[in-house]
Amino acid sequence: MSILIKTPEQIEGIRKSSQLAGNVLQMIKGYIKEGVSTEYLDNIIEEYIRDHGAVPATLGYHGFPKSSCISLNEVICHGIPSTDTILKEGDIFNIDVTTILDGYYGDTSKMYWIGDIPEKTQKLIDDTYHCLNLGIQQVKPGNKFGNIGFAISRYAKAKGYSVVYEFCGHGVGCDFHEEPQVEHIARKNSGPTMQPGMTFTIEPMINQGKSRAKVDKHDGWTARTIDGKLSAQYEHTLLVTDAGVDVLTDVSGEY
Ligand code: MF3
Ligand code: CO
Ligand code: CO
Repeated sequence: MSILIKTPEQIEGIRKSSQLAGNVLQMIKGYIKEGVSTEYLDNIIEEYIRDHGAVPATLGYHGFPKSSCISLNEVICHGIPSTDTILKEGDIFNIDVTTILDGYYGDTSKMYWIGDIPEKTQKLIDDTYHCLNLGIQQVKPGNKFGNIGFAISRYAKAKGYSVVYEFCGHGVGCDFHEEPQVEHIARKNSGPTMQPGMTFTIEPMINQGKSRAKVDKHDGWTARTIDGKLSAQYEHTLLVTDAGVDVLTDVSGEY
């Protein structure tokens, strides 16, 4: 097993799928409001993905039952959209979407919130976004994958947070989860070397309290913080280029 170097044709396919996933996260904003269920949002996401000729990658993935992951408050990741989960004032949540378009995968997630949230909560969200960006800044040919996790964990710990280590970023593009595992805590200069044509995610999960995750024993998916404190996450799919990095799931023009 090794890290795939994608061909130009594969890269164009992965880029299209990634752009679709990014557009889903923009599109869904218009439907987010107090009182709607996470299943309602998931249904809209599924319809949009199918309307664009793609398939939601999470649906049926190792038995996952929905087209997106929607993870509220103390849920770290893999929250299952449900009619029982109704959004209310003060909720913060991550929506994670992975698309399969013409056989290629794009994977991205971001944070949303309802109404007013405390300054400390806003800081967690903003600092988590900064963690993703610190990771992205490490993406360039010749650099070591470990420097992504080194940069993220150094910043997160300095701000008083913990970094989830039980879930990682991953190679993505021709399959949902490819090599390598992209760790969000790592030693400086550890791990494999980045090369042009590699595509993978960075998706730090940052906690206000302890780092440990506990998976719900009833549904087998929902991963929560063990202390019930808040967790935030952002994710992009990246391409290593000769010049550095291309953020394939970015649709805002920010990068
Ligand atoms: N999209 C998630 C990731 O970033 C994976 C979700 S797998 C699922 O890797 F089965 F929970 F949907
Ligand atoms: Co991912
Ligand atoms: Co994802």
